[in-house]
Amino acid sequence: MLKPKKIVHLTDLHLGYEDDVVNSAKTVDRVKAWIMTNCTPRSDYVIVITGDLVNNANVQAQWDLSVDLIQKLSEPAPTSEKYEILLVPGNHDYGTGSNADPKFVPIFKQQYFNNSGVVYPLVKIVGNGTTHEKVAFIGLDSNEGELNPQDELLADGEIGDPQLGELGRKLRRDDVKECAYRVVYLHHHPFESPVFKFGHWLKDRKKLADVLKVADDDGIKVDALLFGHNHGGRSFHNNSWGIHRVYDGGTTGGKRKPSFIRIIENLSDPDVGADKTVQFTDGTHS
Ligand SMILES: [Fe+2]
Ligand SMILES: [Fe+2]
Repeated sequence: MLKPKKIVHLTDLHLGYEDDVVNSAKTVDRVKAWIMTNCTPRSDYVIVITGDLVNNANVQAQWDLSVDLIQKLSEPAPTSEKYEILLVPGNHDYGTGSNADPKFVPIFKQQYFNNSGVVYPLVKIVGNGTTHEKVAFIGLDSNEGELNPQDELLADGEIGDPQLGELGRKLRRDDVKECAYRVVYLHHHPFESPVFKFGHWLKDRKKLADVLKVADDDGIKVDALLFGHNHGGRSFHNNSWGIHRVYDGGTTGGKRKPSFIRIIENLSDPDVGADKTVQFTDGTHS
């Protein structure tokens, strides 16, 4: 049976954390080495990075580390196979993490998409329907609604009504509907409490839920929802909003927490127990 590509979920690398460029460079090399050793052939995998690539977007050395990571993961194998790499920004990619600065929006787009005018949600169809089942990956910028003087403080997320409207339209695009599977990914955790996670929650999470539920009612099912931001790495949200796989990716960079990499082996497998969680560092950020 034809399978979709496997998904490697990375998030919250926080490269440059504690201004420790040396340790962060080790993190880059460790992530690269682990993936290239364990995830072969590269043509079978999609790497999804759900934001906070750097710890402080104001520091050029941290962008350099992040660019180095993406370049290393983009290297073709001797057989010329490559990973598909998809990513969206987190709050730390637009500043210190506690305020989102609009000036970083076009910089981020130019850096990672080579197009400062690209518009979120990003849609990428992965798989050609011959060697791999087609999957539509839809990436959101969960900072976009925060990029104004009233909202920019703290580490809250807000997708914003324009992007949510566009999400509803893009889910209904013929090429997206025709895919066997759909995956939505964003930075901010959409299930955290505004009380217990004040300053860190996704303000319009209910609107996001509504867009996805209405699409589901129309027969357009989302099969996985991937995010980060809280560094928790928990998977107990599975089946929330009617979505089978709902994964908090934790912190691949190990900022204050043990880190791991999650692999979704097969989106078509109803048994989520087949998905892998691999301990990666012990939380010492080294
Ligand atoms: Fe983070
Ligand atoms: Fe974050």
